[in-house]
Amino acid sequence: MLTEVNRPVASVAVVGAGLMGRRIAGLMARAGVRATLTDVNAAVLDSALADARAMCPGNEYLVDVDPVVASAVAGVDLVIEAVIENLDIKRTLFAELRAANPTAILATNSSVIPISAIAADLDDASLTVGMHFWNPPDLIPIVEVIRGTGTADEAMDRSMELLSRVGKMPVRVERDVAGFVGNRLQHALWREAIDLVATGVCDAETVDLVVRNTIGLRLAEMGPIENADYVGLDLTLAIHEQVLPSINRDPFPSPLLERMVAEGNLGAKTGEGFLDWPAGSREAAASRLSAHVSAQLAARSPQPESKGSS
Ligand SMILES: NC(=O)c1ccc[n+]([C@@H]2O[C@H](COP(=O)([O-])OP(=O)(O)OC[C@H]3O[C@@H](n4cnc5c(N)ncnc54)[C@H](O)[C@@H]3O)[C@@H](O)[C@H]2O)c1
Repeated sequence: MLTEVNRPVASVAVVGAGLMGRRIAGLMARAGVRATLTDVNAAVLDSALADARAMCPGNEYLVDVDPVVASAVAGVDLVIEAVIENLDIKRTLFAELRAANPTAILATNSSVIPISAIAADLDDASLTVGMHFWNPPDLIPIVEVIRGTGTADEAMDRSMELLSRVGKMPVRVERDVAGFVGNRLQHALWREAIDLVATGVCDAETVDLVVRNTIGLRLAEMGPIENADYVGLDLTLAIHEQVLPSINRDPFPSPLLERMVAEGNLGAKTGEGFLDWPAGSREAAASRLSAHVSAQLAARSPQPESKGSS
């Protein structure tokens, strides 16, 4: 029997119609879930609607926009917050969203901020959850569903069910740690990558060449846990005894990274970062990446069922 606590999510409002929000709305509508896009900057809504609708031919009437955040979220089953990555803004917004819709599940697409911090101003955080899509959200299969300290099973279960229904591969993250699972792993690698350059072990091009032609080739097929088992945990232990003492473990960003940002060298956005980015190369990189991800997904072997996906 369907009760309120396991009722499937039938309507979604996406708050923040930028890069992520518009595509999240598009992928929901593509799978038959009504989606309303809203943004404080009404000027982005026309292009957001066009982009979202282009993703769901045949179902494009299921996406709409409403420039007033409070009315866009009123009455929907789920609100997905996808505004800029700023704790104060998200925290204030969550309180406004709860006032405008007392019964919806409030989800945040934050990349790294703990859900409990974003829900800190709510009296009751039971219907709050992390819903971390990766970019591009219609292509990357995984969505991390994160339990905050007050999150109820209902919010986790209904989010998992919705995401499976729209064709994603949702996974449960049961503790609310900064960066969740994927970004903790990703940024452990990036910290070491930057440190190798900063300490003169090799140049920036060499770091990427090594990653792309060693672990990068393997990772989409065999994750680090299976790989550790595969090579043997005795070998893994011996390697860790040798290498861990000299791997960077700074609990702060690299001074080299801070200096480059302070000097305005932001990478592709400004033309210079660790590498040179001539005009047009950022767009070329985006296309290259999407084509590669699509080709890998088309060619990959069947995946084992996610333990948390039922
Ligand atoms: N870009 C990525 O690769 C990526 C990947 C995964 C998760 N995320 C996360 O998704 C979220 C959105 O990222 P993005 O890249 O789409 O950002 P974006 O800058 O492209 O879009 C953010 C939008 O939010 C709007 N906004 C700001 N404050 C608002 C408010 N109070 N109410 C309503 N709208 C508001 C802005 O006008 C803007 O259109 C962030 O939390 C980010 O960390 C981003």
